[in-house]
Amino acid sequence: MCGIVGILGHKAVAGDLVDALRRLEYRGYDSAGVATVENGHLERRRAEGKLKNLEARLHNEPLQGRAGIGHTRWATHGRPTENNAHPHMNERVSVVHNGIIENFGELKKALIAKGHRFETDTDTEVVVHLIADEMQKGCDAIEATRRTLASLRGAFALAIIFAGEDDLMIAARQGSPLAIGHGKGEMYLGSDAIALAPFTDEITYLEEGDWAVLRRKGAIIFDRSGKQVERVRTKSVATSLLVDKGNHRHFMAKEIHEQPEVISHTLANYLDLAEARVSMPDLGIDPAGIRQVSISACGTAYYAGLVGKYWLERYARIPVEIDIASEFRYREPPLPANGLALFISQSGETADTLATLRYCKSQKQRVASVVNVRTSTIARESDAVLPTLAGPEIGVASTKAFTCQLSVLACLTLALGRARGTISSAQEEELVHALAEVPRHIATLLRNEPSYEKLAHDLAKAKDVLYLGRGSSYPLALEGALKLKEISYIHAEGYAAGELKHGPIALIDENVPVIVVAPEDDLFEKTLSNMQEVAARGGRIILVSDASPDRAGCELEAHVAMPKVHPFTSPLLYAVPVQLLAYHTAVFMGTDVDQPRNLAKSVTVE
Ligand code: G6P
Repeated sequence: MCGIVGILGHKAVAGDLVDALRRLEYRGYDSAGVATVENGHLERRRAEGKLKNLEARLHNEPLQGRAGIGHTRWATHGRPTENNAHPHMNERVSVVHNGIIENFGELKKALIAKGHRFETDTDTEVVVHLIADEMQKGCDAIEATRRTLASLRGAFALAIIFAGEDDLMIAARQGSPLAIGHGKGEMYLGSDAIALAPFTDEITYLEEGDWAVLRRKGAIIFDRSGKQVERVRTKSVATSLLVDKGNHRHFMAKEIHEQPEVISHTLANYLDLAEARVSMPDLGIDPAGIRQVSISACGTAYYAGLVGKYWLERYARIPVEIDIASEFRYREPPLPANGLALFISQSGETADTLATLRYCKSQKQRVASVVNVRTSTIARESDAVLPTLAGPEIGVASTKAFTCQLSVLACLTLALGRARGTISSAQEEELVHALAEVPRHIATLLRNEPSYEKLAHDLAKAKDVLYLGRGSSYPLALEGALKLKEISYIHAEGYAAGELKHGPIALIDENVPVIVVAPEDDLFEKTLSNMQEVAARGGRIILVSDASPDRAGCELEAHVAMPKVHPFTSPLLYAVPVQLLAYHTAVFMGTDVDQPRNLAKSVTVE
């Protein structure tokens, strides 16, 4: 989603601003721009589409200013045109913004009534006019910004520069993350530390409601009440090397192939393999007394949570409530005393997931999070953090983060099951061994990648694709459909196999591929029956299973052979074929695999 950068430098900063924006590209965007203070006045360049368009613009019309801000925009209010691209500005002030200003409608109306003329369809432009209005009344830049911030509602991050102020930048954080970078006589600002890694590793994260006045010699930070505050300076571990694709064509391919390694790292963090025991950090709640686990997440992370529900209920015998964060937060469900609230997020910044976390805190739940970015807001606001060690995930479609989330949830299930006495030591040992084998099995599966290409060529011709699964394979069907639609733009739906006859069966004909995710577990025969129903209506079945194709009892268009594994670990393995099918279909269709249209990696608006 939108990325913000800012630099108070010693030489022209436009090039460095674009470099920093490139490091935020993975978040997803559809236009970009930079502005600098040049001989006392503000100048900007903006372009629709990718950063190369902005670079071409800067090449033809360079910017010379030493103080500047930059932005990649993921459109919320107004189409992704050059005119709506940030920075937004007038002759006094220039603003970049991430998030949504919820009361922009009423603010805009009042400003128009005062004679302000708006040039864009964005919510952001009100900030420009509000600050200019206060300056018109005689306020200096800092006081005008302070007053403006007090009138804004919503979740946002802002970076602001001013005409005539070559040594001033104001940053504000209310809901969307912002990191200040400390250089030698230079200062930086970014949506995350990754953007600033080539310039500095000395980072201060602004906290909720903070705003900061940056000058080359340092930053002064104020909290929501206007009181000057100190915030810790940390050493960032974000690498200055732009994470590259290695020998792979896309980040998504690289990340799929990294799974054996990152799952190993993640499991090693929670398992004592020598003793075949799980070793979880203390969650600060007595596992035996947990009355309910409430899981909340978005997108792929939600599907990881759904697998977690099957596991926790079956193996640890704990009731699990799970909901998509955007629904959970407004449902305001009653939550029991001694409840554990669990949040799953790759980025740790997803706005809805964060809002749900805060709701659960207000309901006195113990809050634990499974996150990939340890410095993220969700991690920082949790009582306990269970990190996934997936490393940076750049492809918008989540792959390795998903399987690492599953790895952590599997370990948590064992830890809670053992503590509650619902699994014996012998079972624990068996399940730990099963988990330890997962990376090796995935490595074997990946060696078979070429076989997915042929399947993908056929899938690419489909207009609709159905995915079916039962039990803990049901979330895999949902994830498979999500992956395919995200990156190939083919309409796909995941269904619980037993639900097929309550609606989706009406869609089945010889043009609809039906991908059946069905490990040979205790539900296999039930799923087989549903498969027969598809076959009887001429559907084209692709069976992903460790069962022999002879067991299908009907004609298969294809059979994706899976290794025999413990049913507990099958969701981790079956994630891989659904990822590869989606990936190769998208590659064959020539879509932008790593940055699919309209999608963002880090969703900081609700
Ligand atoms: C976006 C991404 C998905 C991700 C979801 C939740 O939609 O494109 O890949 O699953 O957000 O993100 P999170 O960072 O909270 O896991």
